Amino acid sequence: MRHRTITLPRLHTRQMEAARSTARFRLLACGRRWGKTKLCAHEALREMLEDKRVWHVAPTYSIGLIGFRDMVLMGRQIPGVRIQMGAKTLSFGAHGSIAVKSADYPNNLRGEGIDLLILDEAAFMPEQTWITILRPSLMDKSGRALLASSPNGKNWFYNAFKSELFESWQWPSWTNPFLPSGEIDIMRATYPKAQFAQEVAADFVDFQGRVFPAPQVLPTITSRRAAKGACVFGIAIGRSPDATAVAIAPEGEERVWCVQQTHMDYSQQEAWLEKLVREWEPSLVVLQAAGEDTPVFRMLLREAKSFFPDAPSPTATATAERIDALIGGMEKDKYALPNQASVINQFETYTCNRTPSGVYTFGAPTGMPEDAVAAVLLVYWAQQMAGRTMKAFRI
Ligand SMILES: Nc1ncnc2c1ncn2[C@@H]1O[C@H](COP(=O)(O)OP(=O)(O)OP(=O)(O)O)[C@@H](O)[C@H]1O
Ligand SMILES: [Mg+2]
Repeated sequence: MRHRTITLPRLHTRQMEAARSTARFRLLACGRRWGKTKLCAHEALREMLEDKRVWHVAPTYSIGLIGFRDMVLMGRQIPGVRIQMGAKTLSFGAHGSIAVKSADYPNNLRGEGIDLLILDEAAFMPEQTWITILRPSLMDKSGRALLASSPNGKNWFYNAFKSELFESWQWPSWTNPFLPSGEIDIMRATYPKAQFAQEVAADFVDFQGRVFPAPQVLPTITSRRAAKGACVFGIAIGRSPDATAVAIAPEGEERVWCVQQTHMDYSQQEAWLEKLVREWEPSLVVLQAAGEDTPVFRMLLREAKSFFPDAPSPTATATAERIDALIGGMEKDKYALPNQASVINQFETYTCNRTPSGVYTFGAPTGMPEDAVAAVLLVYWAQQMAGRTMKAFRI
């Protein structure tokens, strides 16, 4: 039989280390952009060329497509590799094959006789998918498995990482020599600290999604007479289960004086807010979630010295930027919250979740209020704007 030598694209040193291992179960906990998917594609092709049957499983169809695309790019360079774009499979010789699957259709995952099972972004798949569906498919051929992922808290992937079953590696993103050097700095600047530790340093961070650092707390100041100097307002109009919340903070000081909350219905809120505005005479009011034709909007145009209406529902990116700015203030400048249990509690329970595609969503756990957090985000923003405020809405 004639032998042919095929050269696959070069792996970087760390990838090579994992690729050379002969362990049956391998696990890679690596930072974002480390080259996990590239390595998975490389491994899949290598096995297929050796006449083996490979499954490449990703948490969602679109993540599976990224791996498939890498395999197609490599596979096209190799004579004899057949690519079925629709079925998302590659094949070679008599038995070599790769099938790309997504874990969100578990019924398509029942197979047998797999030689190599690859789980890309394994930490974002349910443990049951691995234990009850995928793992058994390796039994008849004593197949191997390669689990690659960035960590996702201390979930089952972390237990697998520690277990004796796997040969495991843990590498931060910056060990990928192909990553442009500025990338890490961008990630460091744009990710909250705990997320950077998890996503880039590949640490198994037990932050359970908590977003804000433990806050500095100062005594609450709820009366205008006790508060010295100019102030600004951040108003978040409540949606069930939220109250309408007004965060009141001094201009030019790193703190919030108080957060006033009410569950009155909308028709009564205008009078309640008007009373607060008249009492405190804020130099700037930032308001979220009110259309121009609402009584509250008209009242603020009439009563507030300067008024900035924010979008009723800011984009995910805008929200993330504001959260990052406030976290920065809390960490670096010791920005302090008022000693109000409902406010502190909301900051402690406010969470961040990462979807498998890498998008962060922020908010209170389902059914829990987040009005105080929303109001403080607005007032923090107002404090940054105050002083250099455009008088756009001053009439
Ligand atoms: N061996 C390699 N040779 C050349 N470039 C590489 C190699 N490994 C990784 N890269 C490059 O590094 C970047 C990240 O690779 P890849 O998408 O495989 O990483 P990942 O860890 O799967 O990222 P993500 O966390 O976004 O899923 C890509 O631009 C890729 O082309
Ligand atoms: Mg990837």
